[in-house]
Amino acid sequence: MPRRTGSSKRWQARQERDIYVEQANRAGWRSRAVFKLEQIQAKERLLTPGTLCVDLGSAPGSWSQLAVQLVGARGRVIAVDLLAMEAIAGVEFLQADFTTPETVAKLKQMLSGIAVDLVMSDMAPNISGNRAMDQPRSVALLEEALLFATEVLKPGGNLLVKAFQGEGIDAFTRDLRRHFATVKTIKPKASRPESREIYLLARTYGM
Ligand SMILES: C[S@@+](CC[C@H](N)C(=O)[O-])C[C@H]1O[C@@H](n2cnc3c(N)ncnc32)[C@H](O)[C@@H]1O
Repeated sequence: MPRRTGSSKRWQARQERDIYVEQANRAGWRSRAVFKLEQIQAKERLLTPGTLCVDLGSAPGSWSQLAVQLVGARGRVIAVDLLAMEAIAGVEFLQADFTTPETVAKLKQMLSGIAVDLVMSDMAPNISGNRAMDQPRSVALLEEALLFATEVLKPGGNLLVKAFQGEGIDAFTRDLRRHFATVKTIKPKASRPESREIYLLARTYGM
């Protein structure tokens, strides 16, 4: 068995103490991340019956699990991740790097010209611990998600993205404001308070 490093032991201990991890395990959600989307959804009602949603960075799959329940049989959930994701009934999954033009072309092919109601991204780069490297990589993912959203969203559609507070976020928020009627920052309760993680919700595309 591989020896655990200090930081992975600390991660394990924190997971074991975490009420959201326990609740997710009990309810059959694949990740505690589901509670972040659930808390955003409770206020914002982004996913409703019939919503066509693209879930960027979907693995292991808890956002897709929740989304597919909320959009119902008339809706659609298209999910993409670098990692494999165990199948979820009703979710169309693509294992690929979202940042490549080939992946974006494949996603557009799956959409076959139908405009999207919601692009949501919980993507995060592999964190090296070196903020000077991690922050630009995370902002680059945000920019890719925004570009994709401007290409596939219907007028009035919404974009929800995970971001990490720090350099580049103010400029990115200004970019969002150029395309969407409103932009707000959300820190769901389930997002660890000590983390720089936030969600940016940009509503009403192109109107
Ligand atoms: C925090 S996890 C997402 C958790 C997910 N929302 C859930 O509820 O299970 C972030 C995911 O983003 C994915 N990711 C990061 N960069 C990516 C990229 N360039 N293309 C596709 N997926 C990416 C990672 O592989 C990882 O699975």
